[in-house]
Amino acid sequence: MPHTQHEFANRTVNSCRGFHWIPSLQHSPCGPRTNVETHEGKYSANKASEVQKRSFGSAATQIQRNPAYSELTSDDVSYFKSILGDNGVVQDEDRIAVANVDWMGKYRGASQLLLLPKSTVEVSKILSYCNTRRLAVVPQGGNTGLVGGSVPVYDEVIVSLAGMDKIISFDNINGILTCEAGCVLENLSTFVENEGFIMPLDLGAKGSCHIGGNISTNAGGLRFIRYGSLHGNVLGLEAVLADGTILDMLTTLRKDNTGYDLKHLFIGSEGSLGVVTKIAVLTPAKLPSTNVAFLSCNDYTSCQKLLLAARRNLGEILSAFEFMDNHCIDLAMRHLEGVQNPLPASQTKFYILIETTGSDESYDKTKLEGFLLRSMEDGLVADGVIAQDISQASNFWRIREGISEASVKVGAVYKYDLSIPVEKLYDIVEEMRCRLGDNAEVLGYGHLGDGNLHLNILSSKYDDNRLAQIEPFVYEWTSAQRGSISAEHGLGLMKAEKIHYSKSPEAVQLMASIKKLLDPNSILNPYKVLPQSVL
Ligand code: FAD
Ligand code: MLT
Ligand code: ZN
Repeated sequence: MPHTQHEFANRTVNSCRGFHWIPSLQHSPCGPRTNVETHEGKYSANKASEVQKRSFGSAATQIQRNPAYSELTSDDVSYFKSILGDNGVVQDEDRIAVANVDWMGKYRGASQLLLLPKSTVEVSKILSYCNTRRLAVVPQGGNTGLVGGSVPVYDEVIVSLAGMDKIISFDNINGILTCEAGCVLENLSTFVENEGFIMPLDLGAKGSCHIGGNISTNAGGLRFIRYGSLHGNVLGLEAVLADGTILDMLTTLRKDNTGYDLKHLFIGSEGSLGVVTKIAVLTPAKLPSTNVAFLSCNDYTSCQKLLLAARRNLGEILSAFEFMDNHCIDLAMRHLEGVQNPLPASQTKFYILIETTGSDESYDKTKLEGFLLRSMEDGLVADGVIAQDISQASNFWRIREGISEASVKVGAVYKYDLSIPVEKLYDIVEEMRCRLGDNAEVLGYGHLGDGNLHLNILSSKYDDNRLAQIEPFVYEWTSAQRGSISAEHGLGLMKAEKIHYSKSPEAVQLMASIKKLLDPNSILNPYKVLPQSVL
């Protein structure tokens, strides 16, 4: 008989010897199954020029529309129709409105045209034409980006990859997937799982984000601790340069040291160097045994020690180590429908979700059980539960993955995505709380195993004074720790002017030179990634 949530919540790792394990629990069914929704923007439409003036967080620098760009004409639209057909050229106001605003409803452009190419050749023709005409372009994937990179700032033409969603091939000996850039991550996960493999990355936006968007942002996510960065997992890709040149780097080789590995320029360059059209990615084997534990810790030091202990004792089966403070749990309980706190109400400040994935059910079970018992005896874990079925595991993951969704329900979200040495990672959350007092809710969560903190500051509305309390403090603090102001979300519009907090002037200059070489007319994703002053 399945346990009720109540019975389950009372089962702590103190008594976990009698726990039931689910032999084949896979992570992917645990995340939210619904598509990420586009939130209604909070500001009136067609006021793109106001985006930079409003204090949404890091967008305070005023950026003017670059007058070098042409304005769209009816001849341009006719040309696009001639290459894409009527269905590939969208001018419908409602559809354009959705594509003009980001997932948080925070950044809004004023594009009048959305293009939906169906092939690499069509992307090439679009870019070649835009380059000649000096029409600025925003490549768009699933539009789940969190830094304002995927939407226009002014009237840039939106080139969506949504129509390029075909799986090209799957090598089921080596686990190599080749597909078009517009494939939705969750669809790819389902596909490769049916073949006995998994995608090397997983994130809360999987129901909407595209693999091309993932590559363009070098998305991290929940499996990074186990499978590492897309720089390691992407074997090859095809990209179209600003002038329409098709760059075929779609190799599926594991090893290839012939010259510079150019694909890496496109991984994480956020659509500023080219449009990614196809990819080849290495997929790990799907393993039969997955377990998920939800634990609480009394203090941050215990969380750090638990991470080290998990690395040492769970070793090869550790597949996620996610961190949330009690503010995140409270928020999730308030705003996410149907989720329950797996642990009895307590004063505990920190929560950790641990997932293990391995090939031997009873070995994995014994290993995790033993680890949790020792961690409790050592005082690292205050309380905890291990999921006994998929629905409990889903509930654990829903809490963690739902924090961003719950955050936007509050109103304004000042969102920071920082790489900081683990021992210092929570200091900034506490300092921020001191700075802001009761005026805002400060959340700390993230991928602790990767040293990646998500710092969300929530309030009912955006406010210049509040922003001034947060920035530049958050960037200066991170820079002083030699951290990164973008661990995984990218720079986009939000942090283009802030890159110097994490990169030297020489590195930024070299990036600008590469940008100028590949996109001399700067038509690709203008105002994003790099400061205007270096271009
Ligand atoms: P978009 O948002 O459409 O675009 C992102 C950037 O990539 C833009 O600059 C765009 O111009 C460019 N781009 C998109 N497609 C292409 C292409 N084919 N060629 C060239 N440029 C392109 N991110 C993480 O790293 N880890 C997480 O755990 C994570 N969790 C998330 C959870 C939620 C609920 C949400 C809403 C977002 C989350 N994100 C996370 C952020 C976001 O989902 C990722 O950045 C994702 O990789 C973006 O993919 P996308 O297809 O939506 O790209
Ligand atoms: C996450 O880890 O939940 C994501 O990166 C999204 C976010 O921080 O909002
Ligand atoms: Zn994240």
